[in-house]
Amino acid sequence: MSLEQFLEWVSPGSPEETLARQVDFDRLPTHVAIIMDGNGRWAANRRLPRVEGHRAGIDAVRDAVEASARLGIGVLTLYAFSVENWKRPRSEVSTLMTLLKRYLRLELDTLLRNDIRFKVIGRPDELPPDVREELTRAEARTSGNAGMQFNIALNYGGRAEIVDAARRLIEAGVPAAEVDEKRLADFLYTAGQPDPDLLIRTSGEMRVSNFLLWQIAYAEIWVTDTLWPDFRCRHLLEGIVAYQKRDRRYGGIEPPRQAIGAK
Ligand code: FPP
Repeated sequence: MSLEQFLEWVSPGSPEETLARQVDFDRLPTHVAIIMDGNGRWAANRRLPRVEGHRAGIDAVRDAVEASARLGIGVLTLYAFSVENWKRPRSEVSTLMTLLKRYLRLELDTLLRNDIRFKVIGRPDELPPDVREELTRAEARTSGNAGMQFNIALNYGGRAEIVDAARRLIEAGVPAAEVDEKRLADFLYTAGQPDPDLLIRTSGEMRVSNFLLWQIAYAEIWVTDTLWPDFRCRHLLEGIVAYQKRDRRYGGIEPPRQAIGAK
C-alpha cells in the first residue's frame, strides 16, 4: 500500500493524515502484535459492567484490522484470550466467547472482501464447540486469501506454545541433533510467519503477559496509555512512527542493512 492509497481512506486534515505522512511506507513493520488491555478499566471509568468494555473493544478490533490491512502490514496478531483468562468469572468468559462468535459471523465478509487470511493461535481444542465451529469456518473460508494474515490468540500462552512445539517435535521423531532454533520455530503455532517487529500494548502496563514469548525476542515494544476500547487507527500510526525511529541492532553494533521492516 502507498501513502496516496492510504490517504484515500482517512479524512483530510485529520490527525490520521498528519501521522500517515510521517510513516515511511517502505519500512513498515512486517508483523504487528497487540496486547489488547484495559477493557475493564474503560468500563469502570463509565460505571459500566466489565463486559461492556469487551463489547466496546470489538470496535477497536475492527479498526485495527482494517487499518493494518490498508497500511499493508503483512501479519497482525491480537491477544484475545489467554490460558490464564479462564480464572475470570464464568459470565465474563461466556460473554467474551459470544462476542468472538458474533465478531466472526459479522466480519467474515469484510475479511473476505479485504483478502485477509484468518488463523487461530493457541489451544482451540479446549474452547466450547460452537466457538470452535465458527473459528474453523472462518479459517477455512479465508484460507485461500493472499492479503494480510490475521491471527487471533485464543486460549493462548507463550509457555504453553513452546511446550506444544516441543511435544510435536518429539512426536514427529525429529532427532535431538537436528533441533535448533529454526527447526523448533517450525512447530510453533506461527510456523512460516515472520516474527513480530512491533509489539503494542495498550493501557500503560509494562508486561508481556506470556504473549508470543519465543517470537518477540527482537521485537520493539511500544506501550500506549490508551485503553483498548479507545484504540483506533491513529494510535496504530503513532506506534509505527515510534517504531520507525528505533535503532534495531539485534545484539550487534550497527543496525543490519534493511533490518527495519525488512520483507
Ligand atoms: C483485556 O482487558 C482484554 C481482554 C482479556 C479481552 C480482549 C477481547 C476483546 C477486545 C473482545 C473479543 C476479541 C476479538 C478478537 C473479537 P481487561 O479485561 O484485562 O482490562 P483491565 O485490565 O482494565 O481489567
